[in-house]
Amino acid sequence: MIEVQNLTKQYGNLKAIDDISFRVNQGEIIGFLGPNGAGKTTTMRILTCFMPATFGKATVCGFDVFHESHEVKKRIGYLPETPPLYPEMTVSSYLNFVAKLKDIPRDKVRHAIDRVIARCHLGDVQNRIIGHLSKGYRQRVGLAQALIHDPQVLILDEPTIGLDPKQIIDIRTLIKELAGDHTVILSTHILPEVTQTCQKIIIINEGKIVAIDTYDQLASQLRKTDRVEIKIKNSEKGFETLKTIPGVIEVMRDEVRKGTFIVECQGGDSILESISKTVVNHNLGLLEMKLQSFSLEEVFLKLTTEDEGGMSS
Ligand SMILES: Nc1ncnc2c1ncn2[C@@H]1O[C@H](COP(=O)(O)OP(=O)(O)OP(=O)(O)O)[C@@H](O)[C@H]1O
Ligand SMILES: [Mg+2]
Repeated sequence: MIEVQNLTKQYGNLKAIDDISFRVNQGEIIGFLGPNGAGKTTTMRILTCFMPATFGKATVCGFDVFHESHEVKKRIGYLPETPPLYPEMTVSSYLNFVAKLKDIPRDKVRHAIDRVIARCHLGDVQNRIIGHLSKGYRQRVGLAQALIHDPQVLILDEPTIGLDPKQIIDIRTLIKELAGDHTVILSTHILPEVTQTCQKIIIINEGKIVAIDTYDQLASQLRKTDRVEIKIKNSEKGFETLKTIPGVIEVMRDEVRKGTFIVECQGGDSILESISKTVVNHNLGLLEMKLQSFSLEEVFLKLTTEDEGGMSS
């Protein structure tokens, strides 16, 4: 659906993106994650035909973003970092204006507007002036303009930036609703965003892709040791016993939660089994046990601050 090959964008001596390649399949939601200045917006602007790349090639639905930009624009909806809204217009007159800009045939305009108003839950505000709307509603109008020509592909640049938690949830829900019949790339530097919305993550740093994978895969590839959180009744005896289990590297007490230990051990499923068997056999009174997973912050920092080589697939 989207194919990016060796894309490079140079501003003078600065390589904003440097030889990046990836593909996005139909119906996928991909999170484009990277710190400020990583090259997210640059990549999105190239894919949406706003500017050409210096080298490399990108196609959307089989059409070249440079040579066949008209075909690409028909199939792509773009929500830029700052949505191109006219604050003095009402929501419906603005959408009417955008529909005409996007060459929607006259007799289809009304239907197209009604469809995005319903989809983006804008019914209550359709006759209000855009400049009077809250940021969350303005963002929905931004999404509605991206969707008005019913594109197969959506490119959303930081769609939840500056929103309050409720509005963030609303926009995320909306994006998830669009998945399946749309292919979506969204950018963010808010780490939890990608775990909650995206099936796959592309991590970009200083213009280079450092990882492409699902969050689970990223976390497990990085994990050299596991951490098991365990709560037991007989905590004094437990502390000593846990240390004797083969594969256990360290046992730490949780200072706040009494009777809870963090067990650092060599990774693998069998360690969970050994720990639980030992605890039961020694009659330590198992109250709770779970594998602690890597937080996305840890994954992200590891990938964007270590230079021992990234991963990609
Ligand atoms: N028009 C431009 N002229 C010169 N340099 C630019 C231009 N646009 C972007 N850059 C530079 O290219 C690099 C990538 O910028 P880009 O906007 O793509 O990053 P980003 O990942 O979107 O960051 P953010 O999270 O801050 O939005 C940055 O170093 C930026 O300063
Ligand atoms: Mg940006």
